[in-house]
Amino acid sequence: MSLQATPADKFSFGLWTVGWQARDAFGAATRPALDPIETVHKLAEIGAYGVTFHDDDLVPFGADAATRDGIIAGFKKALDETGLIVPMVTTNLFEHPVFKDGGFTSNDRSVRRYAIRKVLRQMDLGAELGAKTLVLWGGREGAEYDSAKDVGAALDRYREALNLLAQYSEDQGYGLRFAIEPKPNEPRGDILLPTAGHAIAFVQELERPELFGINPETGHEQMSNLNFTQGIAQALWHKKLFHIDLNGQHGPKFDQDLVFGHGDLLNAFSLVDLLENGPDGGPAYDGPRHFDYKPSRTEDFDGVWESAKDNIRMYLLLKERAKAFRADPEVQAALAESKVDELRTPTLNPGETYTDLLADRSAFEDYDADAVGAKGYGFVKLNQLAIDHLLGAR
Ligand code: GCO
Ligand code: MN
Ligand code: MN
Repeated sequence: MSLQATPADKFSFGLWTVGWQARDAFGAATRPALDPIETVHKLAEIGAYGVTFHDDDLVPFGADAATRDGIIAGFKKALDETGLIVPMVTTNLFEHPVFKDGGFTSNDRSVRRYAIRKVLRQMDLGAELGAKTLVLWGGREGAEYDSAKDVGAALDRYREALNLLAQYSEDQGYGLRFAIEPKPNEPRGDILLPTAGHAIAFVQELERPELFGINPETGHEQMSNLNFTQGIAQALWHKKLFHIDLNGQHGPKFDQDLVFGHGDLLNAFSLVDLLENGPDGGPAYDGPRHFDYKPSRTEDFDGVWESAKDNIRMYLLLKERAKAFRADPEVQAALAESKVDELRTPTLNPGETYTDLLADRSAFEDYDADAVGAKGYGFVKLNQLAIDHLLGAR
């Protein structure tokens, strides 16, 4: 088993992940700032193929043009030296006080215009660095009080902004794809587009829906007590999984951003199995495996880099375990016993109509519902086999 990452694994990290200084609502930073150049080199060392960033992660907010150019030149040099790519960029529309009521959906129109300009500038930089995806995480797009936000109007303004971004990308020839990242709450009391399902529905209302998909995050769906693997399966079904944020979370509580697999391990196993092996026996997703985790506040820099590596280690371990699960003849027999494959057979025969179904006595009049109802599916056995493989017991 190789737990050594290669570029083909497509592991990526945000500058803001390892670079988090661990300042929280109750306490000061426990680590000094990390230099983005050093981060690029370290990420390359641990086997990442890509680095992502918010505009302000790289160039401090408000920096003048000369400072900005110098920082970007240094960053490009680090990319050249390491071979790291920038698969995705994103924009910080949440930190500065101007965004306290949101960016694209602030009640204040001037803030909305400023937010769009900030994103356009980051799109220019992203395109210059070869990014293929722009992530849109609307952490401040929301409200604490129902009377303070006209949600319909906010969705109109959200749509207006996203239509403009897509138009700009197409006109400039950037060819970017846009990935909306849902989150139910934090920092706002309630965030617009709170789950993968909300975001997918919203995308259908845009002028160019084909350019928009989602960037679901493990912990964000689990904060809503949802099953992340099942959400990803539905996003894949809609062909809307444009990017993914992997991390760990223990159910509905604050956004923990733990190492991938350090929360709901069983769900992480089924997720990796889905991404790598399913549903057709091959990878279901070929984009970056992006870790959006935060090195815990208790860790020093050794702990930062150890925990960064642990994300990769967890993914590769789970990938290996999922392969063993799929290859096990007993698992294959249990899958057949559970009729998992039978669900892929259409319910009607080719060309069959409801008239034919109504004429089929075996489907109803002569159907032995009691006999079929009495038979078990063996799903628990299947699950135990999965757990045996996950624990290395098989
Ligand atoms: C969070 C989010 C962010 C976004 C990032 C990308 O809960 O803080 O997950 O980390 O992923 O802003 O736009
Ligand atoms: Mn998060
Ligand atoms: Mn995220």
